[in-house]
Amino acid sequence: MSIVIKGGTVVAADRSHAADVLIEGETIAAIGPDLAGDTVLDAEGAFIMPGGIDPHTHLEMPFMGTTAAETWESGTAAALAGGTTMVVDFVIPEGDDLLGALNIWEERATRQASSDYSYHMCITGWSQAIFEVMPQVVARGVNSFKHFMAYKGALMVNDDQMFASFQRCAELGALPLVHAENGDIVAALQQKLLADGITGPEGHAFSRPPEVEGEATNRAIMIADAAGVPVYIVHTSCEQAHEAIRRARQKGMRVYGEPLIQHLVLDESVYANADWDYAAQRVMSPPFRDKAHQDGLWAGLAAGSLQVVATDHCAFSAEQKRMGLDNFTRIPNGTGGLEDRLPVLWTKGVETGRLTPNEFVAVTSTNIARILNIYPRKGAVLPGSDADLVVLDPKLGKTISAARQASIIDYNVFEGVEVRGLPRYTLSRGEVVHSAGRNEAPRPGRGRFVPRPSFPAPHRALSTWKEIVAPRAVVRDPALMPIGV
Ligand code: URP
Ligand code: ZN
Ligand code: ZN
Ligand code: ZN
Repeated sequence: MSIVIKGGTVVAADRSHAADVLIEGETIAAIGPDLAGDTVLDAEGAFIMPGGIDPHTHLEMPFMGTTAAETWESGTAAALAGGTTMVVDFVIPEGDDLLGALNIWEERATRQASSDYSYHMCITGWSQAIFEVMPQVVARGVNSFKHFMAYKGALMVNDDQMFASFQRCAELGALPLVHAENGDIVAALQQKLLADGITGPEGHAFSRPPEVEGEATNRAIMIADAAGVPVYIVHTSCEQAHEAIRRARQKGMRVYGEPLIQHLVLDESVYANADWDYAAQRVMSPPFRDKAHQDGLWAGLAAGSLQVVATDHCAFSAEQKRMGLDNFTRIPNGTGGLEDRLPVLWTKGVETGRLTPNEFVAVTSTNIARILNIYPRKGAVLPGSDADLVVLDPKLGKTISAARQASIIDYNVFEGVEVRGLPRYTLSRGEVVHSAGRNEAPRPGRGRFVPRPSFPAPHRALSTWKEIVAPRAVVRDPALMPIGV
């Protein structure tokens, strides 16, 4: 059985061209004019792109005394409905048991996922046991390790632990990821705000100013440089953090930055809303920022100083958010966006001229596929690539509403936003898993794990360079040495 997508424009990260796409089985067989297949999908007036890859999700994540309500089943179905065909989720171990945690994530995902998926492993402490087990994690196809510089007393690691883990990543050809906020300062500001009587969600934003993110981003970059490893900064939300990334890249450091669709579009005014629920539902870390930060983030995506737009989808119900009714520090941190990332970015990015369609593909799919070392199996429209495709219709629009979303969350931070650029079709490994106007849920469990090999090219280049410039002892002629006393 073959499928041909006819009459559309193929939009890749490097170019756009009119062509049909022939799919045989799970992969792309041919791209060109006048192709024929058993089933024809009409792409007239639409763009054929690589499916979105969201490298930052927390499905069913145990966090802050509860568990994120978006399940692997609902979250991956929401992803496909929005044109995202692969998610990368964060495995959170208890203590040293990295493999045990990986097994738990694997059990949930295998049973429920309808999109393809992969994992990052979180390093939430440091020990000889973690040092020894990291190669086994890499051997299981997980080539990235995440470090939290915030969430003091819970997930946070200190500089010495991060340096040790980054050095291990360098040896293993794995990529360290960092949540960059100064957790000590955040904890102190939280206590001060509570003591001053600020207990509502606005306190969340006051306790995490852009400076604490800028400082931590810079520190993470310096630690990565000392360890000789590339580094990927998650949820870059502000100019201070972007500036640190830009500066490092100009010095030739391999540093990547990931703004979220939420930070590109929403701002801190939400926390002043008179409705407590509305404000609390928008509590995430880092918080939404003053609008003045957004232009720089958009410019960074076009200029290449920022590479990826993600969601950090970590969605709690309205009821769960009320755990922090008397105290903003107990509001579970996280927002959603998995279903809306592509259409919101298309509408606010491409339709405004901030991004070209090719840049849109780069930041939603191709760049992260390369960074995570799965290109061109994913992130490409090329013969031999997995047929993970979105047929994006620039005329197809909607008003975002929780009442009509695939996600099971009872609100949406983009509620009321008008978008265009919805998928006419989403295909995952050659299967049509979403068609506009049809409400058929994809089959849970059809998604597959995507293993990611270690040592992506920039990692290899950096370790070669680091070896050449490594400190070396000066060899001196013993005959010329001064005689000791
Ligand atoms: O508030 C957020 N971002 N929650 C999810 C965990 C994290 O920090 O990424
Ligand atoms: Zn984070
Ligand atoms: Zn996150
Ligand atoms: Zn659907």
